[in-house]
Amino acid sequence: MFKNIYKNKKVFLTGHTGFKGSWLNLWLRELNAEVYGYSLEPNTNPSLYNILGLNNGCFGDILDENKLQRAMNDFKPDIIFHLAAQPLVRYSYSEPLLTYKTNVIGTLNVLEAARKCDTVQAFVNITTDKCYENKEQNYAYKEDDAMGGYDMYSSSKACVEIMSSSYRRSFLENGFLLATARAGNVIGGGDWAQDRLVPDCVRSINQNIPIEIRNPIAIRPWQLVLEPLFGYLMLGQKLLEGKREFAQGFNFGPNEDSILTVQDVAKKVCINYQKGEVIVGEKSSLHEANLLMLNNQKAKDLLGWKPAYSADIAIEKTVSWYKKYYNSENMLDYSIEQIKEYMEKQGL
Ligand SMILES: NC(=O)c1ccc[n+]([C@@H]2O[C@H](COP(=O)([O-])OP(=O)(O)OC[C@H]3O[C@@H](n4cnc5c(N)ncnc54)[C@H](O)[C@@H]3O)[C@@H](O)[C@H]2O)c1
Repeated sequence: MFKNIYKNKKVFLTGHTGFKGSWLNLWLRELNAEVYGYSLEPNTNPSLYNILGLNNGCFGDILDENKLQRAMNDFKPDIIFHLAAQPLVRYSYSEPLLTYKTNVIGTLNVLEAARKCDTVQAFVNITTDKCYENKEQNYAYKEDDAMGGYDMYSSSKACVEIMSSSYRRSFLENGFLLATARAGNVIGGGDWAQDRLVPDCVRSINQNIPIEIRNPIAIRPWQLVLEPLFGYLMLGQKLLEGKREFAQGFNFGPNEDSILTVQDVAKKVCINYQKGEVIVGEKSSLHEANLLMLNNQKAKDLLGWKPAYSADIAIEKTVSWYKKYYNSENMLDYSIEQIKEYMEKQGL
């Protein structure tokens, strides 16, 4: 399993209290890694971090350079997975400064702390599919397409990509290996963020109110959270093995059959829940991309990564997680079961 590369490895994980970070934290624990998390306290209630009882690391701000450096120096990591971010498009319209400070300056702080910490060998920097200049065309973005972004979240992540590339060339010739990872629209159990489709559906279904969607025909690449995390772990493995050719950007998007409209996904959530109704609300005045697709060929060819599940299965597994949660089942056990099932499906 990942050739046991993560066994006893010291992993510094930012964003460990968030949705994707909690899943990665749990998965790394299953791989016998020693994980130290560095993030703000969970900002949703419920929170996956609390549900899974993942009490490792500390609560800290990536904008607090001194605390961050101390935490990293004390822990002496082999590898860093950097997921901490302000990740919401709509929130970035009301909080542009916070979004840029967190995503751009915060990431630079994590890179700088890593550069001043001699033990670090590898750094996987998590950005997004939204980092590309979106031409709203029937086209799946490739890794060397132009960076851009209409809204402040997307452009902040494009800046992180450009910054990572320049950082690699300026400082890392003899330093740690740095790669960036761009995933699609991630779904899975335990996300309660505002203004995200599946959490919005789950909230509405549980309150017995219709699910109101703003942009029904917007097209996105949907995938289960474990798919990109598998890509991050594979990328981390290559960097830990010292393979310099992997120190670059990778897309971890789903296959074409998982590129669906917002309306389709909301309806499929209701079908799986056997409950809920979808209505189309007033279109938001805030711009959000209508068409977004990622080309995943490079990750397949170079890393040997591939998606295990279609969007339909991803939705089924996500809804099953929430149903069990609201049925007061043991979510730590069920989340581990989903990870094990996924690894089996990937032949690990
Ligand atoms: N969820 C998706 O669909 C998706 C898709 C593509 C990329 N991403 C990226 O994946 C990463 C994780 O996203 P998520 O969905 O888990 O988001 P999330 O909001 O659930 O988690 C964000 C994490 O960042 C931490 N954080 C925020 N500001 C911080 C600060 N100033 N200092 C320290 N920690 C801070 C939070 O405490 C939390 O742990 C982000 O970089 C996001 O941009 C997410």
